[in-house]
Amino acid sequence: MTGQDQWTAVDKYYGDLLVAPDAALDAALRDSAAAGLPSIHIAPNQGKFLNLLARSISAKKILEIGTLGGYSTIWLARALPANGRLITLEANPKHAEVARANLARAGVSDKAELILAPAIETLPRLERENRGPFDLIFIDADKPSTADYFDWAVKLSRPGTLIVVDNVVRKGAVADPNSADENVLGIRRFATALAADKRVTATAIQTVGSKGYDGFVLAVVNSQNQGLSVATPLDIARLLV
Ligand code: DHB
Ligand code: MG
Repeated sequence: MTGQDQWTAVDKYYGDLLVAPDAALDAALRDSAAAGLPSIHIAPNQGKFLNLLARSISAKKILEIGTLGGYSTIWLARALPANGRLITLEANPKHAEVARANLARAGVSDKAELILAPAIETLPRLERENRGPFDLIFIDADKPSTADYFDWAVKLSRPGTLIVVDNVVRKGAVADPNSADENVLGIRRFATALAADKRVTATAIQTVGSKGYDGFVLAVVNSQNQGLSVATPLDIARLLV
C-alpha cells in the first residue's frame, strides 16, 4: 500500500487509538455532508491537534476565519475554559445555518459566536470594537484572501498569539511558480508577504493524511524586540547613551 491509501490507513490507525469517537463531532460531519457542504473540513486528528495547540497555550480567546460546518470550531471551542470565548467568521448563509446547529448540538453555542458576513468586513469591525486580542487564530477560508486575513489576524493579536493557516501546500502546487490556480496564487501571495512580515516568526509544515497532501503555516506574533535581525536606529541610539 502506498500513497493516499496508506495515508488514510495511518490516519485510521492513530484515529482509532487516539481520537475518541464523539457523537457531536460525528453528527456535525454527517449533517454537513447531508446539507451538501463541500467535504473540505479538517480531519479528526487535525481537529485534535488544534485543540491541543489551544490548550497548550491556555487560549481564552480564539478567532476562526472560515467556519464551514463548524467541525473545527467545535474542536477549538472545546479547548476553552468555562470563561473562554471563540468568534468564528463565515460568509455563506447555508454554511452558517448548518454550523449553528452543529455548535448547538455540541453544547458550545454559549462559547462560540458565529458572525455571518464576509470576513474581510468583519475583521476591521472586530478591531474597531476592541474584540481582540485573540490568543489563537485559525485561518481556513477562501484561499485568495489568505494574505488579507493574515494581516488582520496580526492586527487582532498580542505578542505570543499563535496563528495557524490551513492549506498552504495544496498537493505541492504551492512550489510551482507557473501555477495559474487562484488558490495556489493566493497562498503564494500570502507566503511572500509572510516572509517579509517582521511582526511574526513563522514556519510551514507539510502534512499527509485522510484529507490528502497539504500543510499548515504556524506563526507566532513577536514582541517588539523579537524578530528583528538587525539593530534599529532606536537600538543604536540606546547603545550610545
Ligand atoms: C479546500 C479548502 C480547504 O480549507 C481545505 O482544507 C481543503 C480544500 C478547497 O477549497 O479546495
Ligand atoms: Mg482547510
